[in-house]
Amino acid sequence: MGLVAIGFLSSWSSSLFFILLFQVVPFVSSSSASSQELNTDGFFISDFLQKMGGLTQISSYDFSSPVCSWEGVSCDVNNQNVIGFAASSLGLSGSIPEVTIGKLSKLESLDLSNNKITSLSSDFWSLGSHLKTLNLSHNHISGSIPSNIGNFGSLQSLDLSFNNFSGEIPESINSLLNLQFLRMNQNGFSGRLPHGILKCENVVSIDISVNGISGSLPDGFGTSFLKLQRLDLSENEIHGRSSDFSGLQSLTHLNISGNFFQGSVMGVFQDPLQVIDLSRNQFRGHLSQVHFANSSFNWSNLVFLDVSENQLSGEFFHDLNNEAKNLKHLNLGYNRFSNQEFPLIQKLTSLEYLNLSKTSLRGKIPIDISQLVSLRTLDLSQNHLQGSLPRLGIKTLDVLDVSFNNLTGEIPSSLLAELPQMEKFNFSFNNLSYCNSQLSLHTRKTAFQGLLYSCPIAVKPDNIRNKTTKHKGMKLILAVTLAIVCFIVGLICLVIGCRRKTRMWAVKQISYKEEASISGPFSFQTDSTTWVADVKQATAVPVVIFEKPLLNFTFVDLLTATSHFDRGTLLAEGRFGPVYRGFLPGGIQVAVKVLVLGSTMTDQEAARELESLGRIKHPNLVPLSGYCLAGDQRIALYDYMENGNLQNLLHDLPLGVQTTEDWSTDTWEEDNSGGIQSTGIEGILTSWRFRHKIALGTARALSFLHHGCSPPIIHRDVKASSVYLDSDLEPRLSDFGLAKIFGNAAEENISRGSPGYIPPEFSESENSAPTPKSDVYGFGVVLLELITGKKPMGDDYAEQPNLVSWVRGLVRKNQGLRVIDPKIRETGQEKQMEEAVRIGYLCTADLPTKRPSMQQIVGLLKDIEPVVHQ
Ligand SMILES: *[C@@H]1O[C@H](CO)[C@@H](O)[C@H](O)[C@H]1NC(C)=O
Ligand SMILES: *[C@@H]1O[C@H](CO)[C@@H](O)[C@H](O)[C@H]1NC(C)=O
Ligand SMILES: *[C@@H]1O[C@H](CO)[C@@H](O)[C@H](O)[C@H]1NC(C)=O
Ligand SMILES: *[C@@H]1O[C@H](CO)[C@@H](O)[C@H](O)[C@H]1NC(C)=O
Ligand SMILES: *[C@@H]1O[C@H](CO)[C@@H](O)[C@H](O)[C@H]1NC(C)=O
Ligand SMILES: *[C@@H]1O[C@H](CO)[C@@H](O)[C@H](O)[C@H]1NC(C)=O
Ligand SMILES: *[C@@H]1O[C@H](CO)[C@@H](O)[C@H](O)[C@H]1NC(C)=O
Ligand SMILES: *[C@@H]1O[C@H](CO)[C@@H](O)[C@H](O)[C@H]1NC(C)=O
Ligand SMILES: *[C@@H]1O[C@H](CO)[C@@H](O)[C@H](O)[C@H]1NC(C)=O
Ligand SMILES: *[C@@H]1O[C@H](CO)[C@@H](O)[C@H](O)[C@H]1NC(C)=O
Repeated sequence: MGLVAIGFLSSWSSSLFFILLFQVVPFVSSSSASSQELNTDGFFISDFLQKMGGLTQISSYDFSSPVCSWEGVSCDVNNQNVIGFAASSLGLSGSIPEVTIGKLSKLESLDLSNNKITSLSSDFWSLGSHLKTLNLSHNHISGSIPSNIGNFGSLQSLDLSFNNFSGEIPESINSLLNLQFLRMNQNGFSGRLPHGILKCENVVSIDISVNGISGSLPDGFGTSFLKLQRLDLSENEIHGRSSDFSGLQSLTHLNISGNFFQGSVMGVFQDPLQVIDLSRNQFRGHLSQVHFANSSFNWSNLVFLDVSENQLSGEFFHDLNNEAKNLKHLNLGYNRFSNQEFPLIQKLTSLEYLNLSKTSLRGKIPIDISQLVSLRTLDLSQNHLQGSLPRLGIKTLDVLDVSFNNLTGEIPSSLLAELPQMEKFNFSFNNLSYCNSQLSLHTRKTAFQGLLYSCPIAVKPDNIRNKTTKHKGMKLILAVTLAIVCFIVGLICLVIGCRRKTRMWAVKQISYKEEASISGPFSFQTDSTTWVADVKQATAVPVVIFEKPLLNFTFVDLLTATSHFDRGTLLAEGRFGPVYRGFLPGGIQVAVKVLVLGSTMTDQEAARELESLGRIKHPNLVPLSGYCLAGDQRIALYDYMENGNLQNLLHDLPLGVQTTEDWSTDTWEEDNSGGIQSTGIEGILTSWRFRHKIALGTARALSFLHHGCSPPIIHRDVKASSVYLDSDLEPRLSDFGLAKIFGNAAEENISRGSPGYIPPEFSESENSAPTPKSDVYGFGVVLLELITGKKPMGDDYAEQPNLVSWVRGLVRKNQGLRVIDPKIRETGQEKQMEEAVRIGYLCTADLPTKRPSMQQIVGLLKDIEPVVHQ
């Protein structure tokens, strides 16, 4: 019967029932708390717990034992009175009954936080003047605070946060002379902050955030709290000025976000503030004045500054760069700043969050921004930024928003490669183009809105996907394009040919470097007015073609051949820089690689290095056919590879085509003779014989570099996209020897290889240098790609993080056959493929010493060469 009554009581809290309850309580409790003597502290507490707690939560209490032994209860020295009671997170619910804890007259500390208490008893406020800490946070208590709170004269810590209190904060708070911590945040308090609060002179921390406090702060607010360190008034409706806070000489944290503060922000900046959040107010005036007007502020203490969503005008701070050295969070977004250049901030190396969204920025994003090594969030959206996206080089970046700007050019492939690791990114509404077929349709639609998808021909999904339907149309377009190109090239040859007669053989480029405004060929693409002026100089910059030393090509010819390095001729964004396709006069087709990263070599050294690279010839290497040293740019010319690279052909599948069935039926037809016939290059690629041929050719190339050259050449970046297919579909490895030309400056970036191909020893030790065995690892990954048809990273590997660990795991379990690409499974002998998996396994051994040499690998691969039988 008692049980029923308790359950009944706790589910009701209407005041009518309250009266009823008042009379019933002593009656019920005398039976349920029988083990404690009436009107002792033990009785009050057990009564309280049993009435408010479901029996399950308090079943651990043994009410027959002495009260001072109960959990959460502490007593005075004589074990006579309970002085501390903590009943946090016990699932207590409903109103606190009268004549329970309200009667603990010696109580000094009470913690009822994190329960479901809905209201306080009327005798609660008579708890007495001993109470020092009261924590009622995270409950459902509603109603206003009676002025009886003034009874708690000893209170040092009052936490009423996360409840449903309403009404005004009573004036009687002025009696809490010892108060140090005041938390009333996340309630429904309204009205003005009472004048009485100024009497709480010992307060160290005040949090009244997320309430409905309105009006202005009481007069003398700033001068009353000499010990106040943290003040949070955010998310209220307070009207005020920054001068309200002057005099708070201990204040380190100030948050007034989301109020109606007006006027200048100048008065806020005073020592020893470290955290300043003024966001979403109505501050006006020039932020730049802050710095000059109050030079006493110590900027090196500042860690957090948010002034976003105000009406600040003028320009940003000057000189933040040299002073705010510890700044981690800076948000100046959504203000009314005047048009200005990107601020100087590259020395703020602690910066983790930078938000300059909607701050009227114009000009370029400085390359310096890559010096912000701690940056995690970068928001530059809604400005007028121009030029190209710099190579951010920021590995820590989680959030990047550059949407709504005027940026042009390609999104660097290095950045695109980082996207899968990022939390959020947005490039929408710029004049940017990108090439990355691995992005999902949803991502393209949201984060790349209005951007140009532009890829080399071989990679463009549509061309592969829709070849059956579009084939004829495509061919026609290609033919027409080719005809036009030939015609134009012919014309140009004629013109240039005539002009050249009047010129001497140019030995060395002149004054090209002196043109400071030119940062490289990229400016030609965006700024067609300046390059015209440079053509004269460019005619003096020779292009060296090894095989044809008598051809007097110059940089002008390269410009013409690539339509001034136009995006339309871009083949790929390689690791060392962009690669363009060009027709040199005389019909010489070349791939033009602009090595964009700075080089430490002099022109003479670079020329010597390129010359010696030009002498390296092998049927499985993409030959370097020439070079051009144009100012700071080293430009390498390669024979053009008709059939793209392995990355394109293996992985850059058309959008939405993920299933192997779809792919294979599209490209394969069963032949009567049991063999398989392909219908194009991607068809040929789907045979074991062909994949083996690529693997062997690549292995030969590497074996030649390692063992046939003196000194041996370490490739340092073996990956699928370094393996090209020439017009005879022979594999050819490219990009060898380039790492050296960059010297140490780019060592870190270049020599460590590409994601997915980096051997374990590199991730374990920063200092481990590339060796032939690190190339072997990269080759092993390419081999596994050929066998499995999967990408080294970012595919589905059944719970494994990447291709290598997936394959190695299965090989160890003797299930190597399972990794074979279903598309090639039927096209050759399983035994051979299984053996190839084993070779891949050996190449990707964790320990470099366990990996075979390239020479050995060539031997192993030759042993499993599929026999050609017609
Ligand atoms: C009150 O209790 C909550 C939850 O148990 C806790 O997070 C908070 O720090 C406490 N308040 C004070 C002032 O100790
Ligand atoms: C909070 O109190 C108001 C009245 O002051 C009431 O309408 C509302 O339902 C309460 N909310 C909760 C979650 O108890
Ligand atoms: C300031 O308060 C707002 C709202 O309560 C909160 O979102 C923000 O994180 C706070 N700022 C700081 C620096 O704590
Ligand atoms: C400069 O800071 C001091 C406190 O450090 C303050 O009293 C003064 O009002 C401030 N000056 C201005 C112009 O805001
Ligand atoms: C600013 O504060 C730092 C550390 O708190 C201190 O080392 C430096 O001397 C101060 N600078 C000035 C100008 O007061
Ligand atoms: C940048 O600040 C604006 C204005 O406060 C805000 O809306 C936006 O979400 C912030 N961006 C990021 C990435 O935090
Ligand atoms: C982008 O640049 C073009 C040409 O410089 C200019 O006409 C246009 O107004 C700019 N747009 C924005 C949003 O800045
Ligand atoms: C976008 O950039 C290209 C050159 O990169 C330029 O021709 C074109 O006019 C630009 N479009 C706009 C809208 O600025
Ligand atoms: C990118 O910004 C645009 C424009 O503000 C917005 O429509 C889109 O939802 C954003 N995309 C993402 C992924 O945040
Ligand atoms: C392929 O062509 C069909 C019509 O022929 C079209 O509906 C489809 O969108 C095209 N697919 C791609 C990826 O372009």
